Amino acid sequence: MAASLPMLNPPRHTRERRSLGSLFPHKSLATLRPFIERAADRLLDEFTEQLQHGPADFNTLVSEELPVIAIGEWMGLPAADYELLRTLTHDQVFAQELFPSPSQLALSDGATRQLRHYFAELIRERRAKPGIDPVSGWLSTWDELESDRHRADKAVHGLALFMILAALETTAHVLSSAVRLLLEHPDQMEYLRDHPQLIPAAVEEALRYDAPIHMISRIAPADTDLAGTLVPAGQMVQLMVGAAHHSPDQYPEPHRFDIRRRASHLAFGAGIHYCAGNALARLEAAALLTSLLRRPLRLRFSTPPRWAPRVAFRRITSLQLALV
Ligand code: HEM
Repeated sequence: MAASLPMLNPPRHTRERRSLGSLFPHKSLATLRPFIERAADRLLDEFTEQLQHGPADFNTLVSEELPVIAIGEWMGLPAADYELLRTLTHDQVFAQELFPSPSQLALSDGATRQLRHYFAELIRERRAKPGIDPVSGWLSTWDELESDRHRADKAVHGLALFMILAALETTAHVLSSAVRLLLEHPDQMEYLRDHPQLIPAAVEEALRYDAPIHMISRIAPADTDLAGTLVPAGQMVQLMVGAAHHSPDQYPEPHRFDIRRRASHLAFGAGIHYCAGNALARLEAAALLTSLLRRPLRLRFSTPPRWAPRVAFRRITSLQLALV
């Protein structure tokens, strides 16, 4: 992970980030939008069908599915691999947690090895048969940047692998979290049903209220004065995004979920490392809530939601819902 985009400094970071181009320019989002809307509709159709037989897990059936379908379509990955990629990202993330146990780190190492192998194969395939997908595009960009093809392949390998890690759990979390928060605030859910133009604002409030990434790490490059506290060179600082989002200095009544708040937040980070995939995540969340609220479905929790015991990367593991 030490060589992944968020851990790099300029000039290496500038070079790698620029090589990606704009990941989701207006044109490619416009192409993806109908695909994602159809996928959200289909997943909710299937979820509704399951509900006819009793409680169903929104998290597994919908929230974990949509991000892998979206990223898989965008990167041109076979649907048969989605399950594997989802499992490997869940296992890999322990390496980025605060205090992973030795067994969690071993699981993470194994997942990283498998992901490396998966993306090495993908690079080989795209070299042999380039397409119009982003991985093929990055390969041709890196062929211009690097005279050594092996180094070009290595750079794209790292970027493509990181993209999957960055995209799956984070987006799945905001999907489940938005639905959970709206169910806990039925008045706001009903208001949103009547005012769907507020859906993007509701997504932002879900990102503020329960940010998928609660903690961002940085290392001070030199002795740094951080709001009156000296951070010595080389020391790691954990930026507690989740706490910042609930600071009364920034947000009036911070613990109140309020889709009309319209406040900025740090869920996608800030500065040069600002999330490159934010537009895709926002599109998925808005598409899902739009499709959900258009339906005459009235839902309730059948059992309380469950979370993985983590600090940095939030993960809802179960969101069992039933018909009212
Ligand atoms: C709700 C979903 C998402 C959240 C909350 C999220 C959050 C973040 C955060 C906090 C960072 C900055 C990390 C840091 O400063 O150390 C980041 C970076 C990044 N994200 Fe996301 N992300 C999401 C979805 C996505 C998706 C869907 C993609 C790709 C399609 C993506 C790709 C990236 C990349 C490439 C970076 C590295 C940027 C850089 O270092 O220059 N993210 N994300």
